[in-house]
Amino acid sequence: MEKTLAIIKPDAVKKKLIGPIIQRIEQEGFEINEMKMIHLSKKEAEGFYAVHKDKPFYSSLTDFMSSGKIVLMVLERENAIEKWRQVMGVTDPALADPGTLRHTYGFSIERNATHGSDALDTAKWEINYFFK
Ligand code: CMP
Repeated sequence: MEKTLAIIKPDAVKKKLIGPIIQRIEQEGFEINEMKMIHLSKKEAEGFYAVHKDKPFYSSLTDFMSSGKIVLMVLERENAIEKWRQVMGVTDPALADPGTLRHTYGFSIERNATHGSDALDTAKWEINYFFK
């Protein structure tokens, strides 16, 4: 069984979308192994997204991610990383397939409702960042 990190971002928490997103996670056959709600500091958001530190959107992204509460989950199932990415849809909600979480609930390429790890090594690193 594989594990991935899922985040319900501040935009989706503010829009009261925790329930529908978790319902979808359970419908898609994931086990929620760990879950917590936190409010990231700017520094914690910068650390989490350090891989993007040279991108033009880094400052805005880390402001946004520290702007309100988020829900962190460790999801487990067969092929969890790829499956969660399929359920979310691509980064930009305008380009995401109908039925995906980002198409349904995302607002912009930054305020895109959810996050998921993109590979096995990053999943391990991201899970460890929040769940020691
Ligand atoms: P996420 O899957 O959390 O990984 C990095 C995040 O950066 C991404 O979702 C978006 O929220 C954000 N992001 C990626 N590309 C852009 C962009 N071009 N402009 C603004 N934000 C972006």
